[in-house]
Amino acid sequence: MVLNTTTPTSELVTGDLAEAAAGDLDELIEDQEQIFLDRQPKSRAMYERAARVLAGGVTSSWQISRPQPVFLERGLGAKIFDVDDTEYVDLHGGYGAGLAGHAHPAIVEAVQHQVTRGTHFAQPNEDAIAVAENLARRFGLPLWRFGNSGTEATMDAVHLMRAITGRDLIIKIEGCYHGHHDSVQVSICPDEADIGPIGRPNSVPASNGIPTAITDLTLVATFNDLGSVETLLEEHKDQIAGMILEPIMMNAGIIHPTDGYLAGLKELLHRHGALLTFDEVKTGLTAGPGGASALSGVTPDLVCLAKAIGGGLIASAVGGTEETMSHVANGDYEMVGTFNGNPLSMAATRAMLEKVATPEAYERLGRLRRRIGDSLSATIEECGLPAHVVSVGAKGCVTFSTTPVRNYRDFLTVDDRFNHLHWLFQHNGGVFMPPWGKTEQWMISVQHDEEDIDRFTANFKRFAQAVRPLVANDR
Ligand SMILES: Cc1ncc(COP(=O)(O)O)c(C=O)c1O
Repeated sequence: MVLNTTTPTSELVTGDLAEAAAGDLDELIEDQEQIFLDRQPKSRAMYERAARVLAGGVTSSWQISRPQPVFLERGLGAKIFDVDDTEYVDLHGGYGAGLAGHAHPAIVEAVQHQVTRGTHFAQPNEDAIAVAENLARRFGLPLWRFGNSGTEATMDAVHLMRAITGRDLIIKIEGCYHGHHDSVQVSICPDEADIGPIGRPNSVPASNGIPTAITDLTLVATFNDLGSVETLLEEHKDQIAGMILEPIMMNAGIIHPTDGYLAGLKELLHRHGALLTFDEVKTGLTAGPGGASALSGVTPDLVCLAKAIGGGLIASAVGGTEETMSHVANGDYEMVGTFNGNPLSMAATRAMLEKVATPEAYERLGRLRRRIGDSLSATIEECGLPAHVVSVGAKGCVTFSTTPVRNYRDFLTVDDRFNHLHWLFQHNGGVFMPPWGKTEQWMISVQHDEEDIDRFTANFKRFAQAVRPLVANDR
């Protein structure tokens, strides 16, 4: 497999989650949730105040976590501190944006320099050129534009694929999240009852806010299944503009592409006159210096970046081939935005690319990733947990399944309670992982060290020992 630097640090262990004593697991969760609440009286008070003025008491719906949202005060290096002044090793990484860690000196310097020289012009500047030059080298795509969020990037990519081909339909993967614009708010985490056959999944709107007329324009395929894409291309000959997917799925734990899958997709789509977009909003700089594109050796027609590229500031990018981006350059498709290429964002992004996401940083991330993987796999083995570790670059997750998860259908079979309990053990042990159980993964920043990792792996050991009596095939 081409993804040689990312081969999952996994050790599949036999066992049977279905036989885990459900009641006992729920009891463990209840105990840990109580500890969690007892540690956070100020967060509780702030949440109650927030609920009076912020819908749901938070600023984005995915900040709601069970048993309550955690209000943060500050971050420094690899640590964050909540309003109760509890310190955590930050493996949440702001949902994958925090590759630089907090207050990284290079980012601070760049922002401080720019903030006194003007924070907004809506005219291009030299930093934007340097950023584009750097991204072009990393991702093998010559032409770039910038925006503010992953949602904007994938929205522009979808618009552009349609504008270039003059076709309305697109294909997305079941279980992939690409942001909150209409075209991709389809089959993100659909209920099992709605999904249809695996070879020909239904298009399921993410909410009642997405009209059927729009949902119908988004066809859905199964990850790691070229046949499901071919079926759609044959069924809708000359009507499909292109396909958008995460080259490594990262909103269903971590799911690696099988050998030849990404190259096969590109060939298949091009054969049908359709385009390929990689959504590397999550994988971008975190899977490796050139994202999953460089790891797989497959260069798509368009790539979308956001999250980590801005070094903690607000930035996104769309990169493309000469051919695709010529339609932007000549005005066929106007890629616009008041804050696109904002000087503060560009200064931080340039520092991120030139001074933070360096070869030495990736070497360190690799070392820490292996340290986590080796330790967790040993604990899994020792405790007979029916689980395995999957990781790539700065990211990783424990998948509570004895067999590899290859697509959304497999992912549905994973018991999320194990992930929630693990999250609680980490949190109560001073490590902040992303909430939302089995969907998310941990992220190491360039400022983490061995001690941070060891706090995480020690918490995992405590979790594993608590769960051990509940799993059937203890060895
Ligand atoms: C793969 C992927 N694409 C796009 C997005 C949307 O990015 P944003 O939240 O910046 O709009 C996300 C957000 O989590 C994502 O994970």
